[in-house]
Amino acid sequence: MKKYIYLDNAATTALDAEVLSAMLPYLTEHYGNPSSSYALGREAKAAIEANRKSVALALGVSPLNIYFTSGGTESNNTAIACAVNELGCKHIITSSIEHHAVLNTVKRYCERSAIDCTILTPSTQGFLNLQELEDKLIEKNKEGIKCLVSLMHANNEIGVLLDIEKVGNLCEKYNAIFHSDCVQTIGHLEMDLKKYKLHFASASGHKFHGPKGTGILYASERVKLSPLIIGGGQERQSRAGTENVAGIVGFGKALELSMRNHPEESTYIRSLNELMRNALSQSIPDVSFNSPIDGLYTVLSVNFLNAMPGSLLLAHLDRAGICASGGSACSSGSDGGSHVINALGLSSSGSTVRFSFSKLTSATDVDEAVRALSAIFQSTVPVA
Ligand SMILES: Cc1ncc(COP(=O)(O)O)c(C=O)c1O
Repeated sequence: MKKYIYLDNAATTALDAEVLSAMLPYLTEHYGNPSSSYALGREAKAAIEANRKSVALALGVSPLNIYFTSGGTESNNTAIACAVNELGCKHIITSSIEHHAVLNTVKRYCERSAIDCTILTPSTQGFLNLQELEDKLIEKNKEGIKCLVSLMHANNEIGVLLDIEKVGNLCEKYNAIFHSDCVQTIGHLEMDLKKYKLHFASASGHKFHGPKGTGILYASERVKLSPLIIGGGQERQSRAGTENVAGIVGFGKALELSMRNHPEESTYIRSLNELMRNALSQSIPDVSFNSPIDGLYTVLSVNFLNAMPGSLLLAHLDRAGICASGGSACSSGSDGGSHVINALGLSSSGSTVRFSFSKLTSATDVDEAVRALSAIFQSTVPVA
């Protein structure tokens, strides 16, 4: 098997062997349809409900607040659709550095229905001005217009963190609905969703060693979730379609493991992130970092000043067996530029590579990547 140095864990992570073992019986002997009333079906249903309970426990909420979905994209779409179609939100406040699963969904509602939006622009470090958010909430509240605030907890490209507790308090004060895309934080940070006064939060299993195509939407009891996908009455009438039983079991197991091992694993991953930051500073001239020092520990976004175009740098890394992204996974290998880096005003000053780490990354992986980067820069003429 080809050996890769995998430094793209914000794009996806390898499935944990223990997660696979938990899933396998639900792909083989427990194959019943959870809606069937006989024992084989009931076994599948019981597995779903046991995992709903364990996910809820890990996030400090009730199992009634957890809906299983096909991933972060579906969860984001469902939350926004529900806020607009069912909860009376006529104005959406979001930011220019959201994932496309939020940004493009918001844009579509604004183009095709009587919904307005405000797109907040962060500072060059990625921080939002919460006073600007409050001013907009005050303005809309005075006009009697209900707002949806959709802001991500951690940015997937640079790892900047939002103070979701503060945003939750603001939303409560001005009667706004609050959704947060927590795809990069659920499974990586200890989360007590109740504390944050969220109405909705999204998570994705494949970001923390669970299976792809699995996710959850947390919906508070203050909202009644309405289905985006219409059909049967699964997920308490809120998400039609036969449940992905093995995927749900995998999501539950992956979250259980990541929360159980969080203290040691987060310390370890943070140390790799620091190792790479320090090694790059020492061995590559004109390097700077887009990730704040106190951002999400799994992500390190690096700016190579006056280097070759980003796509060429990624191609050199690929040739050396190193997996990394230009921005998010959607922009890996593309030179169109990342909408996040563009929004931060950093696109003209060099090429950006996002390295992201997991419990499976080793210090040797980091050393080899830094050595490969040094060799790439030594063997190529800088762009003037
Ligand atoms: C912040 C963020 N939101 C949403 C998504 C989409 O999640 P999924 O791949 O589960 O649809 C991703 C995945 O890259 C992400 O990083």
